[in-house]
Amino acid sequence: MRGVVYDGTDYQLVDDLSVKDPAAGEVVVRIEAAGLCHSDLSVINGTIPFPTPVVLGHEGAGVVEAVGPNVTTVKEGDHVVLSTLGNCGACQYCDSGHPTMCRSTFGLRPQPFTWRDAPAYSFANASVFAERTVVKANQCVPIPSDVPLQSASLVGCGVLTGIGAVLNRAKLPEGASVCVIGVGGIGLNVIQGAVLAGAGRIIAVDTNARKKDIALQFGATDFVESTAAVKDITKAGVDYAFECVGHIALIRAAIEMLDWGGTCVMLGVPAATDEASYNVASMYLDKAILGCRYGSSAPQLDVRRYVELYQRGRLKLDELVSATYTFDDMKSAIHDMEAGDIAARGVLTF
Ligand SMILES: NC(=O)c1ccc[n+]([C@@H]2O[C@H](COP(=O)([O-])OP(=O)(O)OC[C@H]3O[C@@H](n4cnc5c(N)ncnc54)[C@H](O)[C@@H]3O)[C@@H](O)[C@H]2O)c1
Ligand SMILES: [Zn+2]
Ligand SMILES: [Zn+2]
Repeated sequence: MRGVVYDGTDYQLVDDLSVKDPAAGEVVVRIEAAGLCHSDLSVINGTIPFPTPVVLGHEGAGVVEAVGPNVTTVKEGDHVVLSTLGNCGACQYCDSGHPTMCRSTFGLRPQPFTWRDAPAYSFANASVFAERTVVKANQCVPIPSDVPLQSASLVGCGVLTGIGAVLNRAKLPEGASVCVIGVGGIGLNVIQGAVLAGAGRIIAVDTNARKKDIALQFGATDFVESTAAVKDITKAGVDYAFECVGHIALIRAAIEMLDWGGTCVMLGVPAATDEASYNVASMYLDKAILGCRYGSSAPQLDVRRYVELYQRGRLKLDELVSATYTFDDMKSAIHDMEAGDIAARGVLTF
């Protein structure tokens, strides 16, 4: 079958990839659509170190093609959004509703694929840049079959991460002022999460001026091209700043723009060895810095909720799909993303 393999030097669409049969508790999903998240790019450019060869892609949706023994939660033909958490379902974190903290998910390196007679890794337990993937049953969240799979695919990372950061991690109080740095797939979902939470002012920051229209469309009240302009607008600073780029200078800027009692939520992923600095004394006035993995989500709950909100017209998913590409044209998708030509997300299909 076809899939996008990164071999440590370059990535390419190959047609000599195979995936294992599903074991007990596992599901084969035929991928119908996959979003291009910056984290896939970060594997290719070395920002996120990952063993190779690896089948890329972690934001996707598709149709269940087969299930292994003992799978009761999905069946052949179900439409599903894939979660990247292969959490165990039995530990203290899973049991308390915090599956992103399950020790068995992060750093798990399954190799369900074979490429050129050697095992190939699954990226983020998902590898949705392949015609078929094999995942744990609890990574498949069933959705109604009338939800377009291109729109649904983006729930798998961008929507879960962005909205979850607001609702689950920040627990944003109504009326709070917010700054969102970086208006990509993650930042736009932080913006619409802040709208859902009833935020007051939502200031979007992006160096790419072409992001203004989509930022305002998703609910930003202001758009500026540099973090320096935020204090001109708010004077005292913001209650919450979300860093959605992955630059250490922006993490510092996010901390510096906080009002007393403010919280910085870090979503961007800088290089593995990067260190950020900030004035420690400035934190004295009850300020906080929060890391956040995958929106601190509980995908079986959150995906269902977000899809329902979409069906009720309260969440934008179709509008997140700003360009579509076939996998043959993946280089164009990456080029357009790097050139800043994709307003929200580029979506890939076979
Ligand atoms: N925490 C998590 O679980 C998680 C999940 C998914 C993605 N991420 C990370 O989130 C980050 C964003 O991902 P994405 O898919 O939204 O990326 P993206 O490429 O779609 O968007 C990034 C945006 O940042 C803007 N930008 C770049 N430099 C800037 C600057 N100096 N000031 C302001 N804006 C700037 C770009 O113009 C672009 O609009 C990446 O680092 C990615 O790895 C984290
Ligand atoms: Zn992602
Ligand atoms: Zn667990």
